[in-house]
Amino acid sequence: MLMPIRRLLTFLPIFLLLIVTLFYVFQNQYQLRNAISYASRPLWDHSEAPQNVLPHFYSEGIEMDAHTCILHGWTKRADEPNVKVLDAVLMSTELDLLEIRLNELDSVVDYFLIVESNATFTGLPKDTYFRNNRSRFAKFEDKIVYQFFPGYSLAKGESAWDVEARTRGAMSSLISQKMLQFPSSTKSLVIMSDMDEIPSRHTVQLLKTCDFGEAIHLQLRNFLYSFEWFLGFGSWRASARIWDDKSYYRHSKSTDRILADAGWHCSYCFRTIPEYIVKMKGFSHADRIGGRINLLDPGYIQATICKGRDIFNMLPEAYSYVDLFSQLNLEPLKTAVGLPRYLLENSENFRFLLPGGCLRQT
Ligand SMILES: *[C@@H]1O[C@H](CO)[C@@H](O)[C@H](O)[C@H]1NC(C)=O
Ligand SMILES: *[C@@H]1O[C@H](CO)[C@@H](O)[C@H](O)[C@H]1NC(C)=O
Repeated sequence: MLMPIRRLLTFLPIFLLLIVTLFYVFQNQYQLRNAISYASRPLWDHSEAPQNVLPHFYSEGIEMDAHTCILHGWTKRADEPNVKVLDAVLMSTELDLLEIRLNELDSVVDYFLIVESNATFTGLPKDTYFRNNRSRFAKFEDKIVYQFFPGYSLAKGESAWDVEARTRGAMSSLISQKMLQFPSSTKSLVIMSDMDEIPSRHTVQLLKTCDFGEAIHLQLRNFLYSFEWFLGFGSWRASARIWDDKSYYRHSKSTDRILADAGWHCSYCFRTIPEYIVKMKGFSHADRIGGRINLLDPGYIQATICKGRDIFNMLPEAYSYVDLFSQLNLEPLKTAVGLPRYLLENSENFRFLLPGGCLRQT
């Protein structure tokens, strides 16, 4: 029997709403699925971050001496002149951060080890930025130990994580090779961090001066897009270690000890919009791009940077609801106090990294 026209009309808005809802769900299924899993994350997951946070004491100009070591519960190394500091990073596209890094750490680092591939972890071809721009770093040439890692497209069943592991393996070999050139009495203090994780100079000096043990993680101030958007102190993967034959180049937890406030982690801190696109395509979490092509739209990316929103348009990876809500309501920082000195001394060139400089080159 046919429904009377009037009843049909009453139901029409409900039908329309249902169709619109279904359409929205279908369009955004990837984002929704992630929103649900991320929003519930504090319930089902807990951070594997080191829990034993060691207080860090520093004031401009303080002597790195026995007294400062004792302040941290450590003793001054008797063999400090025999300690060599190796800063080891995998090169991606971040030449600007490399420049800031080399200048920040130059006075405390003996060798900068750089491994670079011509493919991303996901197997896409990529320029060898360091090799192509090496002359820009001529000032550090004596300290740079560079190794090219030939990239390849992923074999069946191989994931970006596998490629990342092999690339890290190449760095482990490079470190061991370099150490063969040192006298046997040498202790090698290796800093392991991503290019965008920059330990502060005074932190490395402290670790060189004082016997902190075998390994320690470095808690870094976490920033997004530039030093304008501060996410808190959640960055812990960087670490420092006295290298031995069992050591390997890692970005995972190696000890429960972590030194507070030891530097800066600037994620997605790029000068140009195309760099954002390369990074989003090549990131090991490439699954996050999902089915929504417009996440790679330059106008969308620019607006996201200026608003301090998540570039993947998702809830941040947070393990407690306190963190979660604070990260969703980012306020732009008005302070640029305590940043790498080279950045401020060259502020015209690095405007995009400083508060008020969110516009990027296209
Ligand atoms: C990377 O370089 C290697 C060796 O030079 C070459 O065989 C390979 O095809 C290159 N891979 C890509 C993705 O360009
Ligand atoms: C550095 O190398 C890249 C990749 O080859 C190139 O596109 C770029 O123009 C070079 N210069 C700078 C300043 O990035």
